[in-house]
Amino acid sequence: MTPRLHCARLTLTDFRSHAALDLDLDARPVCLHGPNGAGKTNILEALTMLAPGRGLRGAGLMDVARGGADGAALRPRPWTISARMVADGETLALGVGAERTDAGVRRVARIDGRAASASELARAARLSWLTPAMDRLFAGAAGDRRRFFDRLVLGRAPEHGQTAAAYERAMRERQRLLNEEVGDAAWLHALEREMAANGCAMAAARLETLERLRETIAQRPDGAFPKAKIALEGALEAAFAEGRASADIEDEFLETLLRGRARDAKAGRTLEGPHRSDLLVRHAPKDMPADQCSTGEQKALLLGLILAHGRALADDPGAGPALLLLDEAAAHLDPARRAALYEELLALPGQAWLTGTEIGLFEAFGARAQMVGV
Ligand SMILES: Nc1ncnc2c1ncn2[C@@H]1O[C@H](COP(=O)(O)OP(=O)(O)OP(=O)(O)O)[C@@H](O)[C@H]1O
Ligand SMILES: [Mg+2]
Repeated sequence: MTPRLHCARLTLTDFRSHAALDLDLDARPVCLHGPNGAGKTNILEALTMLAPGRGLRGAGLMDVARGGADGAALRPRPWTISARMVADGETLALGVGAERTDAGVRRVARIDGRAASASELARAARLSWLTPAMDRLFAGAAGDRRRFFDRLVLGRAPEHGQTAAAYERAMRERQRLLNEEVGDAAWLHALEREMAANGCAMAAARLETLERLRETIAQRPDGAFPKAKIALEGALEAAFAEGRASADIEDEFLETLLRGRARDAKAGRTLEGPHRSDLLVRHAPKDMPADQCSTGEQKALLLGLILAHGRALADDPGAGPALLLLDEAAAHLDPARRAALYEELLALPGQAWLTGTEIGLFEAFGARAQMVGV
């Protein structure tokens, strides 16, 4: 099938190791191959910088500026990424970069030449990714799983990022007042209301994504990638899952915050809320917690999850296809699983991008993918 979303041109200027890169592409999957250090992951990272946030390495605005041989001397040089995205036949020009101002540098984002907000960007640059660093996702910290899941949520709720940012801003400010023992009740209350409203919106959006993902997973028999049983651990998410009214959940959370002031002050952090939620994953065929599965099984689970997410977005009238970026996913799969992965990627309505050190890893694609030497 012809993907409904693809990147037709990608241009990088002074981004990481790429002084100037210009890729002209068609709609087929993109296989970036080249030796270690060639700059393949940097290209995937550049795509992820088009979405709101800090991209697949969580890098700062100027960390990604090209350092090059001159090192620090070149570092403050502004960088740009431009991508021509084709969605259902319509072309959008997306651009992000760092621009120098009198006050320093700032991030700029444009769609078709006009300044764009984070939500507009999230809507236009829908993408998900897997990197080798995410291999430890199930065994690692809850925060990483929560951030991973929140990225999935962004695919259908582009405002989720700002909602979460507003929640965290209010939480930090409330915590500061509590830590400094500033007993301004009205101010505290206002911040808690802000937290309650945004926290509920976060949990509701998470639950919607969870349910869509579950439906999509249920629609298929087990294939090369095992099915995941997924759940969210968190009081607000649980309340929404029970079908309780949003206004009641919000009131209750407000009450929890009020009652928790003394405890949070003592702890020096906010102990309850959607900033502590976790994504629980089980290997469905084995009915085993994901963190107890083998390394290969965990990888396969994660791939299955991200593929299901791609299908869920594509079928969602409120969302649409996403680019799927897989850094070094092919190298660790046996040939049969690798071929199965490629078939799944070819069936997705968003273009896939893959990296690997050997072009031979992509052989099973045949002519159905484009090979790009880096
Ligand atoms: N800000 C920067 N300026 C210049 N070069 C950078 C910067 N950040 C990283 N690099 C360089 O980019 C190079 C390529 O990195 P990248 O991770 O993209 O390689 P890769 O092709 O994915 O390699 P591998 O196969 O090992 O994963 C590295 O050698 C790194 O030193
Ligand atoms: Mg790499």
